[in-house]
Amino acid sequence: MWLIWLIMILVSIKVYNKITNGKCYADNVMSGKVAIITGGNSGIGYETALELARRGAKVILGCRDDKRGQKAADSIIKKTKNNSVRYMHLDLSSFKSVRKFVDDFKNSESKLDILINNAGASGVHRDLTEDGIIRDMQVNHFGPFLLTVLLTPILKKSAPSRVIIVSSTYHRFGTVNDLNRPHSYVRTYCDSKLCNVLFSNELARRLEDTEVVVNCLHPGHVNTSFYRATALEKLRTLILYSFFKNPVEGAQTSLYLAVSDDCDQVTGKYFVDCKEGFMGLKARDEELAASLWEMSEKMVGLTPDELL
Ligand SMILES: NC(=O)c1ccc[n+]([C@@H]2O[C@H](COP(=O)([O-])OP(=O)(O)OC[C@H]3O[C@@H](n4cnc5c(N)ncnc54)[C@H](OP(=O)(O)O)[C@@H]3O)[C@@H](O)[C@H]2O)c1
Repeated sequence: MWLIWLIMILVSIKVYNKITNGKCYADNVMSGKVAIITGGNSGIGYETALELARRGAKVILGCRDDKRGQKAADSIIKKTKNNSVRYMHLDLSSFKSVRKFVDDFKNSESKLDILINNAGASGVHRDLTEDGIIRDMQVNHFGPFLLTVLLTPILKKSAPSRVIIVSSTYHRFGTVNDLNRPHSYVRTYCDSKLCNVLFSNELARRLEDTEVVVNCLHPGHVNTSFYRATALEKLRTLILYSFFKNPVEGAQTSLYLAVSDDCDQVTGKYFVDCKEGFMGLKARDEELAASLWEMSEKMVGLTPDELL
């Protein structure tokens, strides 16, 4: 009897999830648009890139692994028949790599309409990078910060344009004290995701007189390889797939922010399930966002002419 109840509960959860998941209904064609998606080789990033390519955009996958990046680009080209999809090397845990990516991009493209900061690490890698920063903190915040600031001139030149930052609902549990100290992986992850929201808000404020809009999002709890390296892997297999979105569902809010006409004037907001959601209290603190910005400028080593 208990088995029937268990099955009924799981089926109900699955049905509830399916009904409440946000979906991007905008059917905009994206021909002529140029988009960069970091971490576009797997999970949410891959599905986002696939859909943008299907709509005709030129898509650049910024990935750290040559084989995985090229394989994803080939697979998207095969599925969409859009040949303007390519992989470019980008390791967010290295400022040198980020700078090289930006130089290579600027040498090969004259505009950028959409930047999706999607790549993320789960907080488990607490060793220091070659730049002396906790690895996953650099991948999740400092690397994307440098990437975005360096690409802002081309985003401004290409305006109207959009920056999308994939954060997480766990930003609510983060702090920005001692970002460069080894903490538990949960804390590092939450801190980095709070940084994502604060960075998104501050960038939106700094660009409010331009036509570059900046928003962040929580994609939902998505069944991707993301939990692979954490204790949550076991939990994930234990609590069954019914509780998680699949990657296509997880990509819907990124896509909505990238393509929908509803979002062309919206900036400095936090989205969940394709609609505006509530940011945590700390994420709304403008002073905190400004001080994180100043600290990040120093950590990534921006030169005076690169400051925004
Ligand atoms: N899955 C969820 O439930 C969930 C919930 C909330 C937020 N998110 C956020 O969603 C985003 C995408 O995650 P996902 O769930 O799609 O997981 P995923 O499939 O593991 O994708 C993460 C991507 O980030 C890339 N990446 C990791 N380190 C990198 C580095 N140093 N340089 C460049 N790229 C790097 C990975 O590349 P490799 O393949 O080479 O490792 C991969 O392509 C993340 O920002 C995550 O925080 C996910």
